[in-house]
Amino acid sequence: MRPRIVVFTGAGVSADSGISTFRDSDGLWANYRIEDVCTPEALRYNRQQVIEFYNMRRRESLTKEPNDGHLAIAKMEEWADVRVVTQNVDNLHERAGSTHVTHLHGELMKLRSELNPNLIYDVEEVEQQLDARAEDGALLRPHIVFFGESVPMFEAACEIVATAEILIVVGTSLAVYPAASLVHYVRRDVPIYLVDPGNPDTRLIRNPLTHIRERGAIGVPQLIEQLRNEFSK
Ligand code: OAD
Repeated sequence: MRPRIVVFTGAGVSADSGISTFRDSDGLWANYRIEDVCTPEALRYNRQQVIEFYNMRRRESLTKEPNDGHLAIAKMEEWADVRVVTQNVDNLHERAGSTHVTHLHGELMKLRSELNPNLIYDVEEVEQQLDARAEDGALLRPHIVFFGESVPMFEAACEIVATAEILIVVGTSLAVYPAASLVHYVRRDVPIYLVDPGNPDTRLIRNPLTHIRERGAIGVPQLIEQLRNEFSK
């Protein structure tokens, strides 16, 4: 039987690809104020700055490649039934080859109608034009969950996490809710492996927890190799 392994990732899984995290000392939120670029109010009153911020991040993400962490997670599909739930808006999991990826906080490579959240489009150009409109006539906006907005994929993500026989968490401070609460939707006794060189907030985790203090590109392939050996016994 192929084990169901759920991988829950944050910005740290892409750090080794050269994409900044948010809350590390050199992170994005050290250089930008959330309320200037990542809230519905910013989009309304500061539209140009918000669109430019995401244009820049989109442009940057296209110059980056999946690292050994993303690649090991994708390759794990050879022997396990893998589901990835990510807080990241880049598409490095998909580019690494992962086939079941749920994005909790949206996707950089998509835009959507400001009025109808179901009118979602793949970006045609890297730069979103300020006046580009959806087919309902509304302005397009980045397909990103801003602070203060609901997280439409959260329920689906909870259902996925509840099916885990093993949960691997990579590179997230576990500081942003509701995403961080996903770790509480695993069944009791399901082991949780956390790969993160820092100190994510694990205080409320009651499941058996192994914290591997290693960066993703090193720690994730090692952990997956170890799990593969355990399952092939
Ligand atoms: P954070 O920036 O809060 O946390 C990044 C985590 O990655 C920290 O725990 C670091 O220790 C860890 N880390 C740093 N380098 C690493 C490496 N090389 N390998 C592995 N881990 C490493 O990022 P998130 O937890 O993803 O939301 O942040 C959650 C949400 O807050 C994001 O999705 C974003 C942000 O605001 C939105 O934009 C809506």
